Amino acid sequence: MAVIEWDKSKFTVNVELFDAHHFKLVEIINKLHDANSFNYTQEIIFEIIDELVDYTVFHFSTEEKALEKYGYSDFNNHKKFHQGFVDIVGKFKQKIERGDAILWTSIEMISYLRDWLLTHILLEDKKYSNLLKDKAVE
Ligand SMILES: [Fe+2]
Repeated sequence: MAVIEWDKSKFTVNVELFDAHHFKLVEIINKLHDANSFNYTQEIIFEIIDELVDYTVFHFSTEEKALEKYGYSDFNNHKKFHQGFVDIVGKFKQKIERGDAILWTSIEMISYLRDWLLTHILLEDKKYSNLLKDKAVE
């Protein structure tokens, strides 16, 4: 069972590109949850975590470029939220590389990723919705 059910009407930020990015992040977290539930090998779990790290960095940088380009007033705070998440995911990654895989794949960890992402979309990303909704965002 998916740990996050995507609900576009609830999660939309009215920017197609970022809705697609957020959907992809939800898919990766769901995949990590499945890997945990079905006892996938550590190698597969490493691959999913790498995918999460890479895609998160890619998504945040795309979002930040658009926010900067269109002069988002809360840009610096938004960037700090992103950096905080990247730092935490990076620390988790180090832990799993040191062999602390149980911690990484625990349901608490997956819950943390889910809660952070959904809270960020609903409370922070939605704040840029009015600014970006009719703009050319690439
Ligand atoms: Fe964001």
